[in-house]
Order: sequence, then structure tokens, then C-alpha cells
Amino acid sequence: MTTTPQTPPAEPPEGADGDAAQDLSASARDHLWMHFTRMSAYQQQDVPVIVRGRGPYIWDAHGKRYLDGLSGLFTVQVGHGRQELAEAAYKQASELAYFPLWSYAHPQAVTLAERLAALAPGDLNRVFFTTGGGEAVESAWKLARQYFAATGQPGRYKVISRNTSYHGTTLGALSITGVPALQRGFGPLVPGARKVPNTNFYRAREHGDDLEAFGRWAADSIAQMIEFEGPDTVAAVFLEPVQNSGGCFPPPPGYFARVREICDRYGVLLVSDEVICAFGRLGHTFGCQRYGYLPDMITCAKGMSSGYSPIGALIATDRLMEPFLSGTTSFSHGFTFAGHPVSSAVAMANLDIFDREDLLQHVRSNEGAFRATLEKLLDLPIVGEVRGDGYFFALELVKDKATRETFGAEERERLVRGFLPGALFDAGLYCRPDDRGDPVVQVAPPLICGQEHFDEIESVLRSVLTEAWSRV
Ligand SMILES: Cc1ncc(COP(=O)(O)O)c(C=O)c1O
Repeated sequence: MTTTPQTPPAEPPEGADGDAAQDLSASARDHLWMHFTRMSAYQQQDVPVIVRGRGPYIWDAHGKRYLDGLSGLFTVQVGHGRQELAEAAYKQASELAYFPLWSYAHPQAVTLAERLAALAPGDLNRVFFTTGGGEAVESAWKLARQYFAATGQPGRYKVISRNTSYHGTTLGALSITGVPALQRGFGPLVPGARKVPNTNFYRAREHGDDLEAFGRWAADSIAQMIEFEGPDTVAAVFLEPVQNSGGCFPPPPGYFARVREICDRYGVLLVSDEVICAFGRLGHTFGCQRYGYLPDMITCAKGMSSGYSPIGALIATDRLMEPFLSGTTSFSHGFTFAGHPVSSAVAMANLDIFDREDLLQHVRSNEGAFRATLEKLLDLPIVGEVRGDGYFFALELVKDKATRETFGAEERERLVRGFLPGALFDAGLYCRPDDRGDPVVQVAPPLICGQEHFDEIESVLRSVLTEAWSRV
């Protein structure tokens, strides 16, 4: 039997105060350095300040309500305002607020590691905590290098990832990232990071309708890169189950089975970067479970605590742990706040909610309705494709549906960066127009959402995209 997730009533916030909202916005403009943000944009307009959340809704400092169509940043799986997560944090901070995992353990990290190992497939039994996703990716590359150094293959240091993928911003993770615009100005990057094609079938017209042939081709591009670089120089391949950046590229049928076989053939580690795709986003605890492949490492973060407190992890197989279990070898790597007691306690309480409300099944039961609701938007001339899985979709925006012509630089600037973000937000929907690849709008609401929220998303997108088309 499926239980219904709790969607707390969308009550108005207390004490919305216009003057206080203006003060916050002005102060943010003067002192806060926002991430990936053109700060110049806020010289002329207010900084949106979000003050409260309940269920799938958030409120700004003026008291206006928005549907959180992006779960914060693919993070707030169980929705906002869950008292029991706040209480878990309070209880743990009262008991033991902090202790490091440097040669010592604390109960919350131990029990969370045990729980994650039980949830992960195969012998992914060893959990190395971090504070977020980029650190987990960074840790995975370092572990791959040290593992090979410790097992007599010190020449294996390179990594392969996909074009347009995003894996984080620290220099190692940024080197794995496949978005040149994000790397500009930060070179030289970490040597040895190579890129291969992603699984964007919409833009692979030479494969016609043959999705499986496309998948074989995309997987084989990894084998070709390994051959080209020299198999004994390649340590790992980093792939997301569904690639986020570029706009939700699901794997073609057979893709991951072939990638696994290629990695085994060449002795290369497969890292499943599940910073977005884990913890229910695709209707399973881990994205690899949805597509039936077994990686050597999983990197995850965001949804582990639903964002109520920061935490991430690298989960590794027994084999990768092996060289570190004897002698004087240790993984020379760590972070002060990794596996923080408060974050670990919150993550445990968050996973309790997943179990109690059967959120994974809820996503699996409702993703078809979500997809169908979004696909109604295909009647708009600007929507070229709707793609994704679970509660994780992108709408690709095109200038000409028949030819799939995309927008030029000036139109992207005006529409995708200029018009859309503000217009969607003003219309009551927080989601993400993005053009790291071709222009898309991404939606990934909290996993508690149902048809009424899908309809609300569709309705706002319909009116704003109609207006956008009139401006093309
Ligand atoms: C696939 C993937 N890897 C890594 C990261 C980096 O995570 P963080 O921002 O927590 O460092 C992200 C962030 O969105 C991501 O989507």
C-alpha cells in the first residue's frame, strides 16, 4: 500500500514587512556575493530574498508565494518546513554538536554510513563523507588515483567525462566538468581530464530514430578515448545517470551496460555522479538502480538531507577499500565538516521520511503523470522536446521546431538570461532556465508533489513561454 506524502498546508508567512524586505535586498546587494550570479543585474533590481518554505512552496520577503519547481537546487526532496528534521538537528546539536571523522567516529556518521551501504547496490559498502557534491567528486578522483598508485598502476591518473556535464567547481571537479564557459579564466586545469559525447539524442540526428544504435555509439566513444589515451593511463569515467547540464539527457537503452563492459575491459573505474540523481529524484535511492548498472563509486549529496543541513558522500566498493585496510596506507584526504553529526542526524531523519511516506514509490507512480502534463506544452512552437525521468525534466526551447534550429547568442541573452528567469519567478514559479548547452527550462520539484503541482507548473510555463515566443 502506498501512503500519501505529507504536503503541509500552504499557509501564508507571518510578518511580511515591506521595509524589512527592502533592507534585506539592499544589504544583499552591498555585501552578499551570490554564486554564479551577474551581480551587475542587481544594480537595477531587487535581490529576491526567500524567507520561508512549506511543502513545495516558498515565500519571499514581501510575502509572495512561489512553487519551488527546482527543490531549491535539486535538493529539498521531502519539501520545506519539516519540523522533525529541524528537531533532529536540535537534538543532535544539544547532544554532540561537532566531532571530526579524523581517526574518530560518532554514532550518527556510523549509523548513516551503515544505512547508505545497505541502500546502495552490490558491494558499495564503504562511505567517505564530504560536505557536498563537488567535494565528493574531488574525493572520487583522488581515491581513484591513490587506489591505482597503491595497487601498482601509478600511471592511471586520467578521467573521462561527458561534454556539457557539470560535476562541481573545485579545480579537480571543474576539470571533470564539460562546460568550457565555466572553465574559462581558471586555467591551467588539472591535467588528464578528457571529454566524450553525451547522450543528447535530440541533437544526434545522424542516428535517425535508432536510439539503441546511438547509445552504442556514445558508449563506444568512451572506449575510443581510453584507447587513444592509453588504457594504462586512465583511472576513471565519471557519468551521471541522467546528465543534468544541457537539459536532462537520460541514458539510451543498453548504454550503461555497454559502459560497464568497457570499463571492465580496460580496468577503468566507473563513477556514478548522483549528486542530483540519488535520493528519489529518479524514483530509486540511487540512479544507477533505475538503469541497472553497478558503478565502482557513487558520489552523492543534495537530497541526502533534503538540504536541511549540508552533507555529501563518496560510496566505494569493498575492492577500492582493500589497499587501505592493511599496513601504513591511508587515504590522505579529509574535510573538517564532513559527516557532521548534525547533518548526519538530519540525513537519518530525512531517510525515515522517505520510508514512512514511501516517497520512491510515490515518484514512480506519478512520474508518468508529470511527464504527460509537461508534454502538453509540446503544442507551443517554442518547445522542441520534453525529456527526463522521475521528477527531473527539461524542456528544450527552439526557434524552429521542424528544423530544431536553436537560438542565437543575442536571443539567448535576451530570452533565456534576460526575460525568462524574471518572468517565471514573477508568475509564481521558481525553476531554472539554463543555456550551458542548448537553451532549456528545467523542473525538478520536491518529491511530495502531485497532479495539482504539475498543473500549476504547466500553467505558468504555458503563459510565460507563450509570451517569450511573442518576443522572439
Ligand atoms: C552532478 C553534479 N555533481 C557535482 C555537483 C557539485 O555539487 P556541490 O554544488 O554540492 O558542490 C553538482 C551540483 O549541482 C552536480 O549536479
